[in-house]
Amino acid sequence: MPTEKRILVNEVEISYLQTGAANALPLLFIHGFPFNKLMWTNQLETLKDKYRCIAYDIRGYGQSQAGDKDFSMDLFGDDLLAFLDALKIKKAVVCGLSMGGYIALNAIQKQPERFAALLLVDTQCGADTPEGRDKRMKTIAFIKKNGLEIYAEESLKKLFATSSFQSHKQQVQFIHETILNTPAEVICRTLQALADRKESCSYLPKVKTPVCVIVGSEDKITPPTVAQKMTDAVNRAQLNVIEASGHLTNLEQPVAFNKVVMDFVRSI
Ligand code: MLT
Repeated sequence: MPTEKRILVNEVEISYLQTGAANALPLLFIHGFPFNKLMWTNQLETLKDKYRCIAYDIRGYGQSQAGDKDFSMDLFGDDLLAFLDALKIKKAVVCGLSMGGYIALNAIQKQPERFAALLLVDTQCGADTPEGRDKRMKTIAFIKKNGLEIYAEESLKKLFATSSFQSHKQQVQFIHETILNTPAEVICRTLQALADRKESCSYLPKVKTPVCVIVGSEDKITPPTVAQKMTDAVNRAQLNVIEASGHLTNLEQPVAFNKVVMDFVRSI
């Protein structure tokens, strides 16, 4: 595992891991909610021979400071661009999983020239429906009252494919611990930010960079039908459905996932 590094971004210390050669093409990974940079450990190790691989903790997650500002996809998108500035990276291939995808889609609208290509993994471009928003508000109230234990248990059921509970016990355990180790306050602030996020579907036809959409065949949160719609909205996109995977494709099917990433990046 590479040594953890920290850098000041928009007045908070952001923690990140980096592998590969400093002069190789940067491949930047953005984790989903409520996880952290360690969900990309396999990719950092496997893809380092070809790329400069970087995974960072979104503010409040892992080892990154949260700061006082209200969380929003807009703030997270600004952080992503400021993080690239801080590392002096002009252009990167950006790979965002779920909330990581929302953040990438926010940032690309502000500075499209920073994106050499975009990988949208188990994510969507729509905003929350009124029902979805209401559910997030109820979850905030539930966590404030009961803490994270039941929330974490319930989340696991939605995150993984049924078969992964047998075949990927370690990954399930890892995600369980990751959720429990994340401050409840950070989870609640992010749930509010997720509920308030704007849609980015209307921007998709304007995307000029190559796009690769990846989705687990059993993703219950952002299913293949959603991924297909997103792919159709982009001019130059390819869709890859990964079998026997739920919402955490890079963890549940790392070999298939890494192959799609490598094939795509080679093709850009
Ligand atoms: C994620 O994995 O980032 C979440 O499922 C995103 C969401 O709740 O919309």
